[in-house]
Amino acid sequence: MPEMRQSSLVVVANRLPIDDSVAPDGACEWRRSPGGLVSALHPLLRHTPATWVGWAGGTGPAPDLPDVDGVRMHTVPLDAQDLRDHYEGFANATLWPLYHDAVEQPEYHRRWWEAYQRVNQRFAEAAAGVAEPGGLVWVQDYHLQLVPGMLRELRPDLRIGFFLHVPFPPPELFMQLPRRAELLRGMLGADLIGFQRAQASHNFAQLVAKVLGLPATDRRIGVDDRVVRIGAYPVSIDTAEMAALAGRPDVTARARRLRHDLGDPEHVILSVDRMDYTKGIEQRLKAYSELLASGDVKVRDTVLVQVAVPSRERVAQYQILRERVEREVGRINGEFGRVGEPAIHYLTQPFDRTELAALYRVADVMAVTPLRDGMNLVAKEYVAARVDDSGALLLSEFAGSAAELEQAYLVNPHDLEELKRMLLSALRAAPEDAGERMRAMRAHLHRHDIRAWARSYLSALDETGSLVRRLSSSG
Ligand code: ADP
Ligand code: F6P
Repeated sequence: MPEMRQSSLVVVANRLPIDDSVAPDGACEWRRSPGGLVSALHPLLRHTPATWVGWAGGTGPAPDLPDVDGVRMHTVPLDAQDLRDHYEGFANATLWPLYHDAVEQPEYHRRWWEAYQRVNQRFAEAAAGVAEPGGLVWVQDYHLQLVPGMLRELRPDLRIGFFLHVPFPPPELFMQLPRRAELLRGMLGADLIGFQRAQASHNFAQLVAKVLGLPATDRRIGVDDRVVRIGAYPVSIDTAEMAALAGRPDVTARARRLRHDLGDPEHVILSVDRMDYTKGIEQRLKAYSELLASGDVKVRDTVLVQVAVPSRERVAQYQILRERVEREVGRINGEFGRVGEPAIHYLTQPFDRTELAALYRVADVMAVTPLRDGMNLVAKEYVAARVDDSGALLLSEFAGSAAELEQAYLVNPHDLEELKRMLLSALRAAPEDAGERMRAMRAHLHRHDIRAWARSYLSALDETGSLVRRLSSSG
């Protein structure tokens, strides 16, 4: 058996940053997996001597992957039962809806919990095997909340961080969870627990005090003889990279071409989501359809481009959503479209970063209206891509990014009339006003980019500061 290489920094996430996909010629290739976590961590770790422990998608034996941009890929295999009960079950049909305001009903099954424990143990063992003595392990997201505790048992010498990319719910929702105490204890295996928003740290502290009876403030929790720190570290994007990409002459030309292909309308509205019931796609379509029906928006002047890349496709709630969205898109196009002029351009393909940047450049209004979202990086990517300070961001109050992008057109997506009104305001925004808002948001994102996020989190976790210095000098 080859000797296991060890790293001083280990990232543990459900997914590896690459996914297998089939190229047009039928060959198997790897591509960057769509989703917020990979978008955040991929640019950060590039050229850093780190190991990424994760699942490669699929249920076969763990493939041996080459290093990606200098980062070692350590695959954790999932079999068909793990996929069904851990990933699709406990992670995405219990925790995901529960953590997103229960906008869909969370399901509780004992078999799912057993799989969650089993798979978390496997990830913890994999991380324990690749971390250098005294190294730093950074565990990500809701799929792996037990890993910090399990890893501490295996390797008490490590510094362990945990970051939750999704919202952490208020006590009245979390209390539903049958195995709530174990889950909280699992997270408390970390030295530092990071959340997207201060409200989430507050919810967590309240729960720890209530369920486990531990002394807890919104910053520190006493666990046995240790202190676990908690706090808000809003995740971000590689702002400079997106701005550079969006400003490239070929991307500008591609955006021009896209506008032409869309019929050179006066206004292009864009939405880019994973196909997920938290993203508010149905509410947005309803608002758009009512604006078309009332004549406030006309097909020839305005087009909506809805990108909705399929996600978690075997989970029933996701299948139902996709059917409903596609029926509604068909209805709206049937009712309001013309020959060669659909009301909605609906795309379910994953795009590469260049095409995404061109789409952001072409969008006069970006509609990001989730019912609940931990952060929403698409909103930040759009702002970063508006290198000429034009364009308007319509943003849900329930996205984590709304706490930072205060100059967006903020909206409550549950309020259909407000959604319509704010979409019209964004469409009719005076260029000077829109420019001022965009400039302020871009300046914010240049200061608070992904490196600033990593610096603030890792310097809180890594008291020696050596890692932060290494990350700052890489990439
Ligand atoms: P989530 O983590 O819930 O998926 P985010 O908005 O935070 O939501 O992150 C989504 C990420 O996935 C963004 O970086 C976005 O660019 C990327 N993405 C979304 N749709 C696509 C697509 N069709 N093709 C490629 N990347 C996509
Ligand atoms: O944070 C949200 C999240 O679950 C991320 O962990 C992941 O990047 C994204 O959504 C995509 O989800 P999935 O990995 O299930 O395709």
